[in-house]
Amino acid sequence: MILGIETSCDETAAALVTADGRVLSSIVASQAELHASYGGVVPEIASRRHLELIGPVIREALGEADVGLGEIMRVGVTRGPGLIGALLVGISTAKAIAWARSIPLVAVDHLQGHVASLYLGPAPVEPPFVCLLASGGHTLLLAVRRHGSFERIGTTLDDAAGEAFDKGARLLGLPYPGGAAIDELAREGDPAAFRFPIARVPGLDFSFSGVKTSLLYAVRDLGETGLAERRADLAASYQRAIVLALTRRLRQAAELAGIDRIAVVGGVAANSELRAALPEAALAPLWLCTDNAAMIASAARFGDPLPVPEVLALDAYASAA
Ligand code: KG4
Ligand code: ZN
Repeated sequence: MILGIETSCDETAAALVTADGRVLSSIVASQAELHASYGGVVPEIASRRHLELIGPVIREALGEADVGLGEIMRVGVTRGPGLIGALLVGISTAKAIAWARSIPLVAVDHLQGHVASLYLGPAPVEPPFVCLLASGGHTLLLAVRRHGSFERIGTTLDDAAGEAFDKGARLLGLPYPGGAAIDELAREGDPAAFRFPIARVPGLDFSFSGVKTSLLYAVRDLGETGLAERRADLAASYQRAIVLALTRRLRQAAELAGIDRIAVVGGVAANSELRAALPEAALAPLWLCTDNAAMIASAARFGDPLPVPEVLALDAYASAA
């Protein structure tokens, strides 16, 4: 029995997962509303909220799985990348539980966690596959040849795909976080109404600053009344440009890496147009796409367990190495 803990950004999450990858419970307390009025996550507010929520969230995860603390044999916790203050809340909690119970702790890389969302039951995906990891902070193409590791073969040169959705939503006057809002509004719009550019970057990298700037100009040209009339068309066209950029690169990456299977993970994998555009891809179920602790517990199955007391020296890291 593995307890997963995730506090890297604005979701306080705990989950119980078995060694063979069955999710017994997964509790996610989102702070999105708390940060919405600021248009983004405020790190210090996030840390304080994690501190209030982490105890109740773990208790709820245990309760829903009907598991006692005494049955947990391993703790997995996100070590980074993320907001340092937020990460430390999860890490300190995980250390306390590992120490109190004398059980090992696995420090999980958040990105490995997203990939490991694919390894959970009832239909786990087996490596090798090429994985697009698209979230609020990252847009990566990964060659995954075995559990617990990956090779980066592409990344974004500027904004992450989720960030492009969030910033685009802001330009359109939609609430934060914007990905889901654009996704919904785009269903009522015409994706061919506006022509937004798809960056031509060498290799397998991405760039989303151009499409964002184009949206800014389009919004400015339309003015307030024009924007109100064309908002859905703008959302649909903007989403189409981002989805095309992601799907083209992903298929290209698979071809170059000589790996047949493709997969998508991370918050942007929840996007309905992206999912529809990749019928051949392995996609995590929606509730495992955005940040959660089940994926962290899943990754902890393949990581190195740190014993007590060495585990007490564990520290957080802010950005990917
Ligand atoms: O993986 P995640 O929950 O957190 C990070 O690790 O960043 O990803 C959050 C990102 C946000 O940028 C959000 O706007 C985006 O995922 N997102 C979506 C959708 N749902 C969430 N983007 C596009 N379409 C969606 N349906
Ligand atoms: Zn994430």
